[in-house]
Amino acid sequence: MPSRGRSLVPTVAKRRYFIETFGCQMNVNDSEKAAGLLEAEGLERVESAGGADVIFVNTCAVRERAAEKLFHAVGRYKTLKSQNPALKIAVGGCVAQLQGKEIMERAPAVDVLVGTHNLRDLPRLLGESAESGDRRSALDREADAFGIPADVVSHSSRTRAYVTVVEGCNHVCSFCVVPRTRGKEVCRSPESIVHEVRSLLDRGYHEVMLLGQTVNAYRFGNVDFPDLLRQVHDADERLWRLRFTTSHPEHVDEKFARCFGELPRLAPYLHLPVQSGADGILADMRRGYTAGEYLEKLALLRSHRTDLALTADVIVGYPGETDEDFDATCRLVREANYDGLFVFLYSPRPGTTAIRRPDDVPEAEKKRRFKVLNEQQQRQQRLRHQNYLGRVEEVLIEDIADGEAKGRTPHFRLVHFDAPSGPNVAPGARVDVEVTEAFPNSLRGRFVERVRERDPRQ
Ligand code: SAM
Ligand code: F3S
Repeated sequence: MPSRGRSLVPTVAKRRYFIETFGCQMNVNDSEKAAGLLEAEGLERVESAGGADVIFVNTCAVRERAAEKLFHAVGRYKTLKSQNPALKIAVGGCVAQLQGKEIMERAPAVDVLVGTHNLRDLPRLLGESAESGDRRSALDREADAFGIPADVVSHSSRTRAYVTVVEGCNHVCSFCVVPRTRGKEVCRSPESIVHEVRSLLDRGYHEVMLLGQTVNAYRFGNVDFPDLLRQVHDADERLWRLRFTTSHPEHVDEKFARCFGELPRLAPYLHLPVQSGADGILADMRRGYTAGEYLEKLALLRSHRTDLALTADVIVGYPGETDEDFDATCRLVREANYDGLFVFLYSPRPGTTAIRRPDDVPEAEKKRRFKVLNEQQQRQQRLRHQNYLGRVEEVLIEDIADGEAKGRTPHFRLVHFDAPSGPNVAPGARVDVEVTEAFPNSLRGRFVERVRERDPRQ
């Protein structure tokens, strides 16, 4: 897509760009959009910052350390300017949106700043900065977050394509900075989503992941999230696996749960953050459910799909979290019997309601709780994975390097195996693998055979 206003072409055409991404899949998808925008201007991707003429750092503000990571990254990259005075450093994402002024003050090496809704301005601002030598920024959260055409996106994976369907979040979790950085929910039309999915299938993808901070809050006119799932699922037979993330328990109901029983290509995997197992903490967090209600939702989901794989996020050391509260979280995690768990140490974020509460759980105690919960979960996962020994799993290959392949099962389990040589086993192919070894976070197996359809790209 050509940039609006002054063109980037006369100044940085045939040059090279490098992108560093922090944070979640939504940030990865934003980086894919930034890559596509820069490639449309004639820039080529390089895998190391050293050879780049444009460096784009795409940031995440969810935890405190993430902002510090940005300043460290810029500190590293600014030394490259002495070798290449034309080098431009651009910063985007949630930290740019939230702390733009601070970045401009603390990091003079940053030439361009783009907020969460201004990504499409990146080439224009780089061009202007190259021409004038001045710094440029666009931090308008009211701009159209979906203003980048789908065919511009330069997808980073050969196997799984991300499609953002909801931007922003209308929830008000006390600890979370996202509503401030990404704004209120805005949903794309189902027609544009189905159109994008079809064009991805034309390009050889077979797995699509719909993205949103609270993706299952999706609503466009009369179309809610389960309706959207059906539309995408039924759009085309070439779609082998449909996934989505992240879901909020509030929008898990009978209609949503039925999708897992009724849509065969909907992958049997759900990431459903719980955050805590203590009702007092959940109320303070404004999550909108009790521990009991959350567990009832898991039971509802499993009643429609008994083998559904479930993962969650948990925060330890939230203000006021007592030993009893933490024990309640450990109990919930045991009872939920998750397939995976992401544990975070609470960190106070600017502009959230929780920041007004004293951050009173000492750092050492946060770390102890983090360790205890992770160890408990690892034991649980090791046991769950033992059940896979001897089973044949369908693996969609994501990568092959030095004869070793890795890919995911429909339940999102990571599997490694020795890849036999030959054109039939390549990224994007579906193969059967017999599980021979089980670890807490992955499986190892033996290639059995290639399954069903040939990948049209091969
Ligand atoms: N939308 C998701 C949901 O429904 O919960 C969460 C999105 S958030 C960007 C990803 C995860 O980061 C959260 O689930 C939470 O566990 C963690 N997180 C968010 N704010 C945090 C904070 N201030 N400190 C520690 N962890 C945090
Ligand atoms: Fe954050 Fe809660 Fe939304 S965790 S992204 S405010 S659902």
